Amino acid sequence: MIIIKSPREIDLMREAGRVVGLIWEKIPEIIVPGVSTLEINSEVERLLAENGATAAEKGYYGYPASVCISVNEQILHGIPSKKVILRDGDIVTLDLVALKNGYMADSARTYEVGICGERQKRMIAIAKQCFDNAISLLKPGAHLGDICHAIGETAKANGCSVPTDYTGHGIGTHMHEDPYIPCFGTAGTGPKMREGMTLAIEPMILEGRPDVRVLKDGWTVVAKDGKLTSHYENTVVVTKDGCEVLTYSEAEKKARKETGN
Ligand code: MF3
Ligand code: CO
Repeated sequence: MIIIKSPREIDLMREAGRVVGLIWEKIPEIIVPGVSTLEINSEVERLLAENGATAAEKGYYGYPASVCISVNEQILHGIPSKKVILRDGDIVTLDLVALKNGYMADSARTYEVGICGERQKRMIAIAKQCFDNAISLLKPGAHLGDICHAIGETAKANGCSVPTDYTGHGIGTHMHEDPYIPCFGTAGTGPKMREGMTLAIEPMILEGRPDVRVLKDGWTVVAKDGKLTSHYENTVVVTKDGCEVLTYSEAEKKARKETGN
């Protein structure tokens, strides 16, 4: 059942989203060659606490950390570790769910570490383009399939594939609510979007084949062919005539206003 949020609930999600946006503002400073993913996890925890929020991922189905951190061919759910040291030319994804006053906001970014090549930059740009194309269609009356189709087609047009078993989702007082939002679909199908729906839209893309496997740690999802992956996610609310993105940083809001992207 898809839950429609009240204006009061949307305000609470806006606040959880603001905290995530603040973290996206602050975290790039510490993403440098030589940092461990455990150090990044600690900094995220500190920023959440400083802003009255907690990490909804911690303990979720036993997940052991506060933010999923996945490097290069790791597409999802990497576990922060002092043994995972970022190196020049890596790309690293942080996937974070802030919980504040009972409401959640879920978002992911893939960042460059040090100096990256065109191959890495391209992967980061394509995932964001998938998201931008998807939300350009999001408004009351649009079909869920329109959104999924836009993600899948944008990936395909850029020679990338998408995972079949991992999806975006509704979000609110629970991390995963209806509907599930795959990274592919058929336009004109699925439930119609309504004002007050809150959704985590999260294009995940693979440079090569769509096949993935889970590492022995039981969490980390990697591309079977070892090629690059990237992920870009925001929590959004459907408004009267479009949607509002709740998890942008101030810099991202400004860039979107100025360039439309
Ligand atoms: N943030 C992820 C999502 O987009 C979920 C992470 S799974 C967890 O749905 F176990 F790490 F929480
Ligand atoms: Co999500």
